[in-house]
Order: sequence, then structure tokens, then C-alpha cells
Amino acid sequence: MDMLNIALPKGRLGEKVYRRFKAAGYPCPAIEEENRKLIFENPAAGVRYFWVKPSDVAIYVERGAADVGVAGKDILLEYGPQVYELADLGLGHCRMCVAAPRDFRDRPDRVLRVATKFPRIAAGYYASLSRDIDIIRLNGSIEIAPILGLSDVIVDIVETGKTLLENGLEPRETIVPISARLIANRVGYTFKHLSIDRLCRRLEEQA
Ligand code: PRP
Repeated sequence: MDMLNIALPKGRLGEKVYRRFKAAGYPCPAIEEENRKLIFENPAAGVRYFWVKPSDVAIYVERGAADVGVAGKDILLEYGPQVYELADLGLGHCRMCVAAPRDFRDRPDRVLRVATKFPRIAAGYYASLSRDIDIIRLNGSIEIAPILGLSDVIVDIVETGKTLLENGLEPRETIVPISARLIANRVGYTFKHLSIDRLCRRLEEQA
């Protein structure tokens, strides 16, 4: 049996994703122990898992360091990696939104200042509206930008809406719904398609 190298997104989503893999018949007892290791394997199940930063999963898969991985649709849209998107796992549901302070009134004649971690998604969205914007690329805590006057609005991920609410912002428009996707390296898939297809089928059966 082929050994599959699987990149999992470290963090809350990753734990849900691992539980899905386990239920699908790909357990790895070592990963469930409390420790700081990042690579775990279970030769009996034919899997080697590694934890990487969620935004790096697609890089490992695109370059073939991982055969498959799980990445958010947000990352796939933003970076456009050359990978196969095999399945929507139906986990990690959230949406990419435009959000603004509750009292913000847009002036369409002015350039809109948009703070975001997702400049490509934001640029594509506003281009589709023929709206001129100034993108301010940040790395996190985007909600602070309009509060401090750094931007007018933000383009960011909204899950429960709690972060927006607690910072005096509100969602204004939904750009695209997001969920976790199973992705595969293109070359690896041609060699390991039997085991990758089996994995994909079993994961979908658990949805
Ligand atoms: C994401 C997103 C929001 C928050 C939304 O942040 O950027 O800040 O989650 O979740 P909510 O709607 O349930 O409140 P993340 O945890 O990825 O941190 P960062 O953006 O600050 O890096």
C-alpha cells in the first residue's frame, strides 16, 4: 500500500479534520498524545500526518512535500495553488465578508480603503463592482484597522460574527462562502490515485 503524506492545518480546524480522517479509517494514535511533535505516522493505516500553518498547507501540497492536505477555500482562492481540489469536506464553514463600523456610510465617489489578509480576493471582488479601492494588506487582527482609521472597511473571514460584534463592526456584504477542501498534488495523484481516491471516498462517506 502507498504511504500517504498528509498536511493538516494546525489549530481548531485541524483537530476536526483529523477526527474525520480517523473516523474514515485513517487513525494515528501518536497524534492524539499531548506533545509538540509535528510529524506522526501510522504505517499500518498507510498515513504520515504533519501539522502545518493553515495558510501553508497548499504550499506543501503544490510542491509535492505532501500528497494531499486540507486547506480552506479562502487560501485556495487567494493563492491559486496548482493543485487538484478533490472534495468539500463540509467542515470549517464560514464566509468571506466586507465588514464596516456600524456608523460607516460609503461614499461611492471616493476611493475605498480596504484592510485585509486577502488582497487578491478583495481586489477581485471590487473589480467586479468597478470600484476603486486602496488595499492595505495586514496579517491579522484586521478588525482593528477601521477602528483606528487605518481603513474604511475590512475584507475578512466571519465565522460566528462575534469578533465583529465585540469590536463595533457589522458584516455588510458576503463575498463567498468558505469551507475546508481536500486537495492533492497533481503529479502525486497520478502515482497514488488509487489510495487517494479511496481516502477521498471514505472521507466523503463520513460527511
Ligand atoms: C479569524 C478572522 C476573524 C475571526 C472571525 O481570525 O480573521 O478575526 O476569525 O471569527 P468569528 O466570526 O467567529 O468571531 P483568526 O482566528 O484566523 O485570527 P487572525 O485573523 O487575527 O489571524
